[in-house]
Amino acid sequence: MSYQNIILSIKESTAYITINRETKLNALNQDTIAELKAAVDSVEHDDSVRGIFITGAGQKAFVAGADIQEFLGKSSEEGKSLSSFGHELMDKIANFSKPVIAGINGYALGGGLELALACHVRIASKTAKMGLPEVSLGLIPGYGGTQRLVELVGKGKALEMILTGEMVEAQDAYQWGLVNQVVELYELEGTAQNILNKIYSRSRNAVATAIGVVNAGLSKQKDGYQSEIDAFGKCFGSEEFQEGVSAFLEKRKPRF
Ligand code: COA
Repeated sequence: MSYQNIILSIKESTAYITINRETKLNALNQDTIAELKAAVDSVEHDDSVRGIFITGAGQKAFVAGADIQEFLGKSSEEGKSLSSFGHELMDKIANFSKPVIAGINGYALGGGLELALACHVRIASKTAKMGLPEVSLGLIPGYGGTQRLVELVGKGKALEMILTGEMVEAQDAYQWGLVNQVVELYELEGTAQNILNKIYSRSRNAVATAIGVVNAGLSKQKDGYQSEIDAFGKCFGSEEFQEGVSAFLEKRKPRF
């Protein structure tokens, strides 16, 4: 398959996936999400691939969120579908039987942070900034963030991030347990590769089983994921959502 929005290359047992919409800060439009799903599927049964590294093109952003342009004029039902579509990708990554590492090379906001949260390990560059700014759009996180952020940093810090919509610097994210390591930008890929190489030296079956069992222990939160999808869709019916999205696209502050 040829990809328009991502780059997939396979080198020495690792599939490198780069989200490649640099002029839009690698925002996840529907096509990009579909391509990411296809890329992950394509390496699932490829025995030459033992792990995945995901990053964003350029030096500014990992992914600056879901593509807000695509939100405009969507109904609650359509909002719910958008959320479900994103959830399918995030669940696929979280439950992938081979290790998936996010290399957070800049802004990881909204759906971008949610993508990183779905990965098994997160390495951030010192320049990375992370946040869930959906409340500024009259929305809530819709790709699993309300659930996975709580798992990593606890309810208090998660609610602070979700309710303020403020960004967190890499070093704070590390202290909170949101990222596993913080390194120089140029060290991101090498650091991830070192971790992957260690994992590749272990039993494939044990690695796959461990991922499955860790996820099984957290699966009681599935209802939380469904309520996120329902609530995300509902936000699309609100006037504040119309205002938030219009304000972003018109490059002005929203009037809530
Ligand atoms: N969806 C769609 N387009 C986006 C985007 C998103 N999530 N994030 C950035 N872009 C686009 C901008 O619209 C702009 O496009 P343009 O050049 O055609 O006008 C381009 O990417 C560059 O972004 P810009 O805002 O000019 O860069 P900046 O350095 O001034 O600000 C951010 C960077 C990340 C702070 C800012 O882009 C931002 O707040 N993005 C939205 C983050 C967000 O709310 N994400 C959650 C979505 S649910």
